[in-house]
Amino acid sequence: MKSIRTVLVTGGTGYIGSHTCFYLMEQGYKVIVIDSLVNSSVKSLERIKDILKKNNNRDLISLEFFEGSLNNKEFVDYVFHQALNKGNKIDAVIHFAGFKSVKESVQNPYLYWQNNVIGTINLVSVMNKYICNKIVFSSSATIYNANNIDLISEKNEIGPINPYGNTKRANEIFLSDIYKSDKQKWGVINLRYFNPIGAHPSGLIGESPKGIPNNIFPIIMNIAFEKKQSLEVFGKDWPTKDGTCIRDYIHITDLAKGHIKALEFMKKKDSTNLCINLGTGKGTSVLELIRIFEDTNKLKLNYNFSSRRDGDAPIVVADNSLAKKILNWVPEKSISEMCKDGWNWKLKNPNGY
Ligand code: UD1
Repeated sequence: MKSIRTVLVTGGTGYIGSHTCFYLMEQGYKVIVIDSLVNSSVKSLERIKDILKKNNNRDLISLEFFEGSLNNKEFVDYVFHQALNKGNKIDAVIHFAGFKSVKESVQNPYLYWQNNVIGTINLVSVMNKYICNKIVFSSSATIYNANNIDLISEKNEIGPINPYGNTKRANEIFLSDIYKSDKQKWGVINLRYFNPIGAHPSGLIGESPKGIPNNIFPIIMNIAFEKKQSLEVFGKDWPTKDGTCIRDYIHITDLAKGHIKALEFMKKKDSTNLCINLGTGKGTSVLELIRIFEDTNKLKLNYNFSSRRDGDAPIVVADNSLAKKILNWVPEKSISEMCKDGWNWKLKNPNGY
């Protein structure tokens, strides 16, 4: 069994990254974070420490932060070198860093390929130099061609339809080629996320998008908080039970824990090259999400219907049997808990960090 003690988390101050860093430390891992902070705040890391302190886990705090971009290979090399010098050789990487707006990626594909793909190539090349060969990559269900209504398994047809999705898929292909170059050496797990929402129940860490959010959950929370605008529901004539799109919303803490399970799996295996869905396997329509948000938090949400959004698919729900079987991972939290914890975070941090 390979030991993994020190984990580098790229993009570790972001929404999924920060929750994952918390659970890593809670499980006794030493964490090193790289983040450019262009889309996130370093305050999230202070908050993680606060949660550990509150839970009487002060002794588990082992967190180092380096501000910089994966586009700067010398910087990445410096981080690995520093860790080695301090006797904390980086044993594995969880790679979140990347831009994530579909809209922006269509307007500026160069930025997305440069940041998301070149950044990954730099990272993996430095990992190789420092004999760090285990990587968990933050992929997305967006890479699937989701034109059918069945649960989406990892064997589903791949077919991203925007530059953001293309960069996620390109990284998966790159990592697969790296794995094939030396199968005994490399461990690669691509985790394909469905729709993470909610926040840590403490209300200390959560999603803090810079600028105007595009995803439904932060939009719902803004509208519920400001009580001014109305949520535009994109389409009411989809081929679903109530005419609105169905997604697989997953509590951010369940998603974050999936990364720890992926590391645990790699500890047991010398050679791994896997793509694994992280979703609940249960679909929720936009109208159902609105209702559950209202009932859970005892409030009313203004909404109106508008036309379909370009690029949306009617139903995107995971077949999560592989994650359950291989990673021994089971999502535990309900949509109501997602709505409760997300709203708790919003009330405590109306403007994010
Ligand atoms: C979107 C991206 C996807 C990305 C994911 C996570 C698109 C087409 N897809 O997925 O590539 O991986 O976010 O960042 O952008 N909705 C409304 N009104 C709104 C916003 C959303 O009705 O104001 C609906 C959408 O039509 C969809 C559902 O809510 O049915 C979820 O939308 P969203 O949160 O943007 O996630 P996805 O579209 O699933």
